[in-house]
Amino acid sequence: MTVLSSVIDGTDAGGGTAFESRNPALLEDIVARVELADAVTVRAACASARRAQRDWARVPAPVRGQVVGAFGRLVADNKDALARLVTREIGKPRAEALGEVQEIIDTCEFFLGEGRRLYGQTVPSEMPDKQLFTYRVPAGVAMVITAGNFPVAVPSWYLAPALLCGNAVVWKPAEYAAATARALAELAWHAGVPAGVLNLVYADGETTYAGLDAALTDGLVDKVGFTGSTAVGRRIGELCGRHLQTPCLELGGKNPMVIAPDADLDLAVEAALFSGYGTAGQRCTSLGTVIAHADVHDEFVRRFDHAVRTAPVGDPAGEVVFGPLLDEKFARGFETTLGWIAGHHTVLGSSAVGRITADAPREGFAGDPSAGLYYHPVLLDGVRAGDKVFTEETFGPIVGVTTYRTLDEAIELANAPGYGLSSAVYTNDPATAFRFRQGISAGMVSVNNSTSGAEAHLPFGGNGKSGNGSRQSGVWVLDQFTRWQSMNWDFSGSLQKAQMDVGTIDTDPGYRLPDSWDGPGDREDDRRTA
Ligand code: UN1
Repeated sequence: MTVLSSVIDGTDAGGGTAFESRNPALLEDIVARVELADAVTVRAACASARRAQRDWARVPAPVRGQVVGAFGRLVADNKDALARLVTREIGKPRAEALGEVQEIIDTCEFFLGEGRRLYGQTVPSEMPDKQLFTYRVPAGVAMVITAGNFPVAVPSWYLAPALLCGNAVVWKPAEYAAATARALAELAWHAGVPAGVLNLVYADGETTYAGLDAALTDGLVDKVGFTGSTAVGRRIGELCGRHLQTPCLELGGKNPMVIAPDADLDLAVEAALFSGYGTAGQRCTSLGTVIAHADVHDEFVRRFDHAVRTAPVGDPAGEVVFGPLLDEKFARGFETTLGWIAGHHTVLGSSAVGRITADAPREGFAGDPSAGLYYHPVLLDGVRAGDKVFTEETFGPIVGVTTYRTLDEAIELANAPGYGLSSAVYTNDPATAFRFRQGISAGMVSVNNSTSGAEAHLPFGGNGKSGNGSRQSGVWVLDQFTRWQSMNWDFSGSLQKAQMDVGTIDTDPGYRLPDSWDGPGDREDDRRTA
């Protein structure tokens, strides 16, 4: 049995309360026993990171880039093993788990190159013999708190750029993905990330909050990165705000998919199935509500219902659309969501609602449903704008469908829940696609593609209840992990005062072009002007 505890500066920190991380597809399989740290340990990890950060920042960025590159290569060489662990610990189907690991490799490849760029600028001064420069300097110590639905890809979105930029990191992964987190940290350490520069802390939510509060109070944390629920994001945002910090928040989503009357319905159904039920609907980018044009609604729902009913569900080691929910907490959350189904809804997509059991079987189920946290997929037609299933994130295999008549109405419905992470429109009309892009409040827009599955080098992030405007991935995340420093260097040999000693050049503000230049006019006038 693997017993895991926090690792601070390369040393096992032990811990108190034990947590069992179980395989959600086979609950009797305990993947790891996790010793959870107390708040004092969380703070100590930040203090350790603070000590290590200075030396790391002195390593030239291209050399730090080499380490990030080596990390990516080590992940690639361990791709299969890491993906297997993802599947075992959180039940993500094999193909998606491999995709998740690929996302780390892509991220590291991108930031390897950024080590040789990390550009600042030379800027002209308003005075002679003076030069201006800008530099990106590391924020300092980053505390990274991540969810377990993407137990390695999403953490890598923080770790790779934070380390590349010269920060030290304290990473608090989800307890139910503890073994996967440890595996990723091992790969980082073996790639050359110094032990003190990446610290791994296992703690529950309240303890993390208390430890972070203490660390912020003592000036030990300079940046917080958090991926998780909107409710927790709000608390972290408040805490950071009290310490004058802006966290990088990637929160929930209620991602709409608009089906225009000219949409290719088969394509739209394929995308709705993947984005609604892939990862058992537990992505922040998962499809929430389909908003189908009234003219195509019935046909779309007929085809979508067929696709959901026949989708392979079961053992995530096989080729299934989705496996179990992430862990007990998420299963309980989904049970609550199922309670929001109301009399005016038409329930489609499976033969039953709730847990898949011998008494409530799912046709074609792969494996033994009683072994894990398996749920019937739900397709809910007749959803109305005021319904809880319409306004709230559901985080499970459930998709709602509603209708619209004008594009303005569709956009209004798409924005109504107040999230703003991802969105999609199915249409072949450029005007519809561009009008949708213009009107939608989401940070990410897909045309004829899934709401989920963002590429690793485009800005990732949301607005409204989905985040505070921060963006991850690509060059955009550099602004999260660096601060701009400006420098001026005067080599004139005298004190040149900005705004006061600036030279001026005389102008003739009363000058007007001669009328004759307007076109043929009165000959007399022309001669006089000439
Ligand atoms: C998340 O669920 O927190 O775009 C991230 C996607 C994935 C990342 C999801 N690349 O669906």
